[in-house]
Amino acid sequence: MSQPVYTPNPDFVSKARVSGMDAYRALYKQAEENPEQFWGNLAETELHWFQRWSHVFEWNPPFVKWFVGGKTNVCYNCVDRHVLAGKGDQVAFHWEGEPGDKRTITFNDLLALVQKFANVLLAQGLKTGDRAIIYMPMIPEAAVAMLACARLGITHSVVFGGFSAEALKARIQDLEAAAVITADGGWRRGKEVRLKDAVDEALGECPTVKTVVVVQRTKSAQTMAAGRDVWYHEAEANVGDTCPAVELDAEHPLYVLYTSGTTGKPKGILHTTGGYLLQATMTTKWVFDVRDGDVYWCSADIGWVTGHSYIVYGPLSAGVTGVIYEGAPDTPGWDRWWEIVARYKVSVFYTSPTAIRALIRQGDQWPAKHDLSSLRLLGSVGEPINPAAWEWYHRVIGKDRCPIVDTWWQTETGAILIAPMPGATPLKPGSGTLPMPGVIPDIIDLDGNPKGPNQEGYLIIRRPWPSMLRTIWGDPDRYAEQYWGKVQGVYFTGDAARRDEDGYFWVLGRVDDVMNVSGHRLSTMEIESALVKHPAVAEAAVVGKPHEITGQSVCCFVTLKRGDHDVEALGKDLRQWVAHEIGPFARPDEIRFTEALPKTRSGKIMRRLLREIVTSHTVSGDVTTLEDMGVINRLASQQDED
Ligand code: PRX
Repeated sequence: MSQPVYTPNPDFVSKARVSGMDAYRALYKQAEENPEQFWGNLAETELHWFQRWSHVFEWNPPFVKWFVGGKTNVCYNCVDRHVLAGKGDQVAFHWEGEPGDKRTITFNDLLALVQKFANVLLAQGLKTGDRAIIYMPMIPEAAVAMLACARLGITHSVVFGGFSAEALKARIQDLEAAAVITADGGWRRGKEVRLKDAVDEALGECPTVKTVVVVQRTKSAQTMAAGRDVWYHEAEANVGDTCPAVELDAEHPLYVLYTSGTTGKPKGILHTTGGYLLQATMTTKWVFDVRDGDVYWCSADIGWVTGHSYIVYGPLSAGVTGVIYEGAPDTPGWDRWWEIVARYKVSVFYTSPTAIRALIRQGDQWPAKHDLSSLRLLGSVGEPINPAAWEWYHRVIGKDRCPIVDTWWQTETGAILIAPMPGATPLKPGSGTLPMPGVIPDIIDLDGNPKGPNQEGYLIIRRPWPSMLRTIWGDPDRYAEQYWGKVQGVYFTGDAARRDEDGYFWVLGRVDDVMNVSGHRLSTMEIESALVKHPAVAEAAVVGKPHEITGQSVCCFVTLKRGDHDVEALGKDLRQWVAHEIGPFARPDEIRFTEALPKTRSGKIMRRLLREIVTSHTVSGDVTTLEDMGVINRLASQQDED
């Protein structure tokens, strides 16, 4: 079957920031041939600097510095400079709470909010170089708190509001944070998520925390610890309105974000100031093609890297109007997102394949209720998007009119590294397509030998890029070993990928998600993608199960769409279906039907747990990021009954 290719339509191309493949190739070539000049020019034209850098980068493998000696401020670039340029009345954020409350915040408003917030932090005794944890619902103050920290050079670490007190505690301790910025709670599916309670629980064993700033959101009753906790609304009444942005070194630590590694201990990924902001800004412009008049909405939570780079820093620095929504996509109905798109006339929408598949499962009647004609560009992030979900997103949401940018990147990369430029790159559903300028990816084996076209291998990046992580907080050896030590001198992504005959990258998933069945390399993703094409299947997760003869066998966990199913017949049908879709060698050994799949709170399927279930029948290790523990228990006990 020939691969469908979607070329950008001429109208889109004519208005795009990067128009046509020649323009893309020219940018790519400039960056590859002369990275100093390329990034230096962009830094000069795209960002404000208080002091110019002495040189663009300094690479002492595996440690890099960008814009050495330069002084800037991320908050100033995201807020003040737009106000100074006369854009103060432009909306920075349309915000909507889950219960339906709304706020409109212009760049003028944002500047006022950020200065007040920064003054409260100063009044609480915080200073440049301190660390603060932000544990907040999706309210404007979450972004304001991040920006206020950035304004003062307080390194922030946002902990997703869905994390438990235990997970919060581990992060506070690792970071030796001086402050926690939180709220009483937030709204999710009509219920209050009580954040301050979790903070209180965590702080029992966190002696470094001297102050807790609490924003009032739900107005629920709270116990405030005297001398430690302050209500934001009371503290702000006592501070001044202005607070200048601190001139910070380009390598000043902007934030630490914890992410799961291959071990149980989360890794604190450190991002710094100038290089990070430049690449977040440029990729927002190149990939989302943002222009005046756009309304841009990224549905991620601010607690994940996507929220950092593509809700707060990239879009604000690019000066685009954004949307922030507090709650769940199904509250009060499965059309909440589409209602929001229609209300604010969202033109660029960025979400995850998991969300798309959940929406597919609910049926096309939900988006059909709303006017989605404002949309002009769609994005996807976080995992490979299976072609069936891509096609649905394109047809049902984008009405065959909107390009889809499938963006590959990681917490560690800070910004999008592989993605289409929508006015240039022909799209192939399921491929992140081509690298961004300045990014030199390759596919290699563990000895460092490059793989040929369509051969699977390890995705690596050859040169440092501006928004690259600088280290793992407090553990430079782990940083060096994990990212630069697997294959000497290159950044190891941990993903498997192949590059096709057109140079397009197809990310197949994490390296440990690759199976070997009878000597055939099989991607779990490839089989999952085949399964979800079946009309009865909602979601699927595939893991390799040790097998005496074939090395591994294919074990599939499947959730079904609503309706009556004869599961025995369907099990046979699905095995045959996969054999038909991919080849007889890929025929699953086992199909297990389940109510739900174990997922991290960011929506990624935890295949590691499924692998443990099929190999050892038990689950151990770090499960603090699980969305629903019940799922694992049910899967494990189902196994015991087998
Ligand atoms: O496996 C890749 C997958 O998500 C991993 C990074 O996860 P995280 O650090 O949580 O960041 C997610 C948001 C950037 C990658 O190693 N991944 C991310 N985006 C894609 C993807 N896999 C395939 N296609 C993508 N577009």
